[in-house]
Amino acid sequence: MALNETIIHELSTTAKALVAHNKGLLAMDESYSTCNKRFAKLGIPQTNEMRLAYREMLVTAEGLNEGISGAILFDETARQNLQDGTSFIEALAGKGIIPGIKVDAGTVALALHSGEKITEGLDNLRERLKEYLAMGLKFAKWRGVITIGDNIPTKGCIEANAHALARYAALCQEEGLVPIVEPEILMDGEHGLERCYEVTEQVLHTVFNQLYKQGVMLEGIILKPNMVVPGLACPIQASVDEVADATLECFLRTVPAAVPGIAFLSGGQSSELASARLNAMNLREKSRRPWELSFSFGRAIQQPALEIWNGRDENVLKAQEALYHRVVCNLAARSGTYKEEGKK
Ligand code: 13P
Repeated sequence: MALNETIIHELSTTAKALVAHNKGLLAMDESYSTCNKRFAKLGIPQTNEMRLAYREMLVTAEGLNEGISGAILFDETARQNLQDGTSFIEALAGKGIIPGIKVDAGTVALALHSGEKITEGLDNLRERLKEYLAMGLKFAKWRGVITIGDNIPTKGCIEANAHALARYAALCQEEGLVPIVEPEILMDGEHGLERCYEVTEQVLHTVFNQLYKQGVMLEGIILKPNMVVPGLACPIQASVDEVADATLECFLRTVPAAVPGIAFLSGGQSSELASARLNAMNLREKSRRPWELSFSFGRAIQQPALEIWNGRDENVLKAQEALYHRVVCNLAARSGTYKEEGKK
């Protein structure tokens, strides 16, 4: 089935709106286990009430919509209400923030591929997307995970993940939701910048090949990739400019200009480095960046607020200020006006 004119228009309008006005995405779609792990590290009780209170703190932060165009929710949150009775979806939409949802079901071991993962969630996805659309959600997210290590990633793993991403993206577009296509190459490991470049190039090339084969309309997606960075345990770390140049060169070789926006994940970078690297990319000449270069950060935008909040009502306002600070930093990084913190 080809997409009709109305859906084509809606998809490209939503995709453009997600990366418009120098704004970016707030990824707050941690699964139960990921959210609980982050809470456990800080001694916050891992309960439904705490997850709800934390996420209410995030979405009710004053000024959030100044730099956030869309928020990615987890299924649990998409069905919950704030204390005043409004649903999270209504609360976000009321502030002009487009609500979206994580629709993958997480990763499992890829059979016969030791150390590699595949993302699940294609079963019944069409029905789930129909429900999400009826709930008022406008876009979706699916994350494929690629690990760098001895003899990995394999072609089998890259192709399986790219294929799943493309099937998910096609289903989303058929139902009228913009797919956020997220192939994440993990930062764990001792590998250098060059190895991350090589793998990112191979993965993006394979992903766009699969998107093409599945008939996905590139004007109606957002790409959510990793930046090209050395492994966290690599003894030689790269400068901000080296990361910006390597990332842009890699993307110019693999990401078609028809894609409206690239919204980076943070992947374990510090909040400051993630902003500085995004800023450096947005300082490059326009011909080096045919797409909007935006953010879809989880940890790099939430972590300072999470630490301050620490599960206590009395810390909500201070935590919201910390969140707002990161929003403003990333808004600046979108236009190349972010000033390194500590040097202001
Ligand atoms: P991080 O920015 O913490 O990597 O999270 C982004 C995300 O949505 C991962 O799927």
